[in-house]
Amino acid sequence: MARIEQLIGAMSLSEKLGQLTMTAAPYAVTGPFVAGDLSEGIKSGAVGNLLNLYGPAVVARTQRLAVEESRLRIPLLIGLDVIHGHRTLFPVPLGEAAMFDPALWEKTAREAAREAAADGVAMTFAPMCDVARDPRWGRMVEGPGEDPFVGAAIARAKVTGFQGGGLGDTGTLDESSTLAACAKHFAAYGAVMAGREYASTDISERTLQEVHLPAFAAAVEAGVASVMPAFTEIGGVPMTAHKKLLTDYLRGELGFKGVIISDYNAIAELMNHGVAADIAEAAALALNAGVDIDMMAGAYAGGLPLALERRLVTMDQIDTAVRRVLTLKEQLGLFDDPYRGASAESAEVLARRRALAREAAAKSVVLLKNENDVLPFSDVRRVAVIGPLAYAAAEMRGAWAAAAPKESCVTVLEGLRAALPEADIQYALGVTIDGEDQGGIAEAAALCDGADAIILCVGEAANMSGEAASRAHPHLPGAQQILCDAVFAKAGGKPVITILFSGRPLVVPALAEQSTALLAAWFPGAEAGNALADLLIGARAPSGRTPVSWPRATGQIPIFFGERKGGRPFIAEEHYTSKYLDTPNTPLFAFGHGLSYGRFSFSNLRLSGTTLTQSGTLTISIDVTNDGARAAEETVFLFVHDKVALVTRPLLELKGFAKIALEPGARGTVTLPLKGADLRFPGLDLKPVFEAGEVEILVGPVAEREREVVGSVRLVD
Ligand code: NOJ
Repeated sequence: MARIEQLIGAMSLSEKLGQLTMTAAPYAVTGPFVAGDLSEGIKSGAVGNLLNLYGPAVVARTQRLAVEESRLRIPLLIGLDVIHGHRTLFPVPLGEAAMFDPALWEKTAREAAREAAADGVAMTFAPMCDVARDPRWGRMVEGPGEDPFVGAAIARAKVTGFQGGGLGDTGTLDESSTLAACAKHFAAYGAVMAGREYASTDISERTLQEVHLPAFAAAVEAGVASVMPAFTEIGGVPMTAHKKLLTDYLRGELGFKGVIISDYNAIAELMNHGVAADIAEAAALALNAGVDIDMMAGAYAGGLPLALERRLVTMDQIDTAVRRVLTLKEQLGLFDDPYRGASAESAEVLARRRALAREAAAKSVVLLKNENDVLPFSDVRRVAVIGPLAYAAAEMRGAWAAAAPKESCVTVLEGLRAALPEADIQYALGVTIDGEDQGGIAEAAALCDGADAIILCVGEAANMSGEAASRAHPHLPGAQQILCDAVFAKAGGKPVITILFSGRPLVVPALAEQSTALLAAWFPGAEAGNALADLLIGARAPSGRTPVSWPRATGQIPIFFGERKGGRPFIAEEHYTSKYLDTPNTPLFAFGHGLSYGRFSFSNLRLSGTTLTQSGTLTISIDVTNDGARAAEETVFLFVHDKVALVTRPLLELKGFAKIALEPGARGTVTLPLKGADLRFPGLDLKPVFEAGEVEILVGPVAEREREVVGSVRLVD
């Protein structure tokens, strides 16, 4: 602390603003260091932090400019989007959400942190905590899916994984191999109007509290080092200028002590939003709201001196922000080792990481359909592998792959050939991902002749989801459905296994109907092909569950299991009830759906008591039996429903989940805790209430009331 105060005392205004600025470096790993224009800024102290730089040599060269050639020798904070792996890619976050496995969520983050830290990186802009219920929005791929409880669980696991459990209020990060995490994008970015990227959001205070804030609260509780406000506004107030949420709620109510870093150019964009007339006003709004670091807007460096002159901000506020940034640098150990001990990792470490990537990829895949138990394969000699995603290494990487080369991912074709060395595996592209040319379809469909099994690999390109990738028609792009139709026509009675790659649940009712088996693979990362082959041949059993509801039609969007009942819930025989004239209300695949190679039944729901107090915990147990012929893993979900309350409550609220692995014929017990405190909800005045009365407990394999075993508990004061 003494060092920090001493530095602040010695700093010029320009040096202070340098610490509040993060500038993009054109990253270079093996190539020449091209950030020549940044060198002078780093040496003068005007550039205090960088993003998009990695690799031991270039980081060392750059840090040296700061710690040896700048006046105050303050190390740079170097950030990078290490979103789902660094050089070794794990599944995209939505795919990881499908694992429903907190230990694995943490492990992949830990490994990503180790790998990035070995490259000199100190901070990641992850986890993304944005709950999203609109598959048109491309950034759904980067988040936890539709449910706030899952969002909070992932946030906790990822922060702990990236940060190694360190930081906290005054603590330091455990090891040099950790990254400062950043919970983003605060808040409700996932609620953009009509699913259109960067559009405004306008949601109720209740939805904000119930759906969008819990994951951020969990990240703060886990000690997250930083938070990034969303590009968007809520009800007229841009998040980058949202004092009430950034300062009063995040810092005040939640007690967040870390650094708030703007999104890319977001402070300058306050002028576009129409709340700032010039850069000085924009800078003042952001600083006054609580934003410490300006990423790439040049607004603090350019605008704060003017804002000081106009008395829109004070030097004290600037010092407070600088103090937070320097504290983070200290916590990261950067003053002692600005290079983070960066060095090449051993082949053994890399091989272990690949094995983890294979496990995570396999566990992220959701088996949506498996008619006649066509999977796993037995005795296939000739396989036709068809489609634009069968041999597409670069696409397997998914939305964020800054440091992973294209060739680092195993394709489905390669994975299958390695898994079935004796089989005759033929491949045809058919069509490109989004091209209209149908010239290759006949040749591709012809591969069906003589094949024992046909594998269709279709879906989106990796860049059709992620930032600035909203789609008004979230279905199979280009001529892929025509290719699929031709293959199904040619297949006769032969099984067609469709592997669907996407960053969102695609609207594909026809494809689901036609396919014998359907797997949602999302984008599985480095070990895509090997992991998928493992599942197809039965070396592993599928265990992923969809973390989002799959619409039957785009017109059903937003669709999610936590909706409210309304005054006229759907009744088939009654016209004036809530429905569409042309589509059922239900999703094609409900949240939590996912088949395995086992067959499970649930019985004997037990509650540890009949009543529950706000400070108490109820223990809920259920027996699960694998009645199938293969070993497999089942996921058990715990939902509640408060049937009569002061305010309407969702039809199902997720409050817990667990996995159990069972051999054929085996039975086991899953036990889930339910805390009374977790049954509080925002009351009429939006303050949390714990309301006495009956609450339903529903335990089952998917968010479908008909499939739950139901009990109840009485809440008492
Ligand atoms: C913009 C994105 O919104 C954000 O998620 C990301 O971390 C920054 N760019 C930095 O790349």
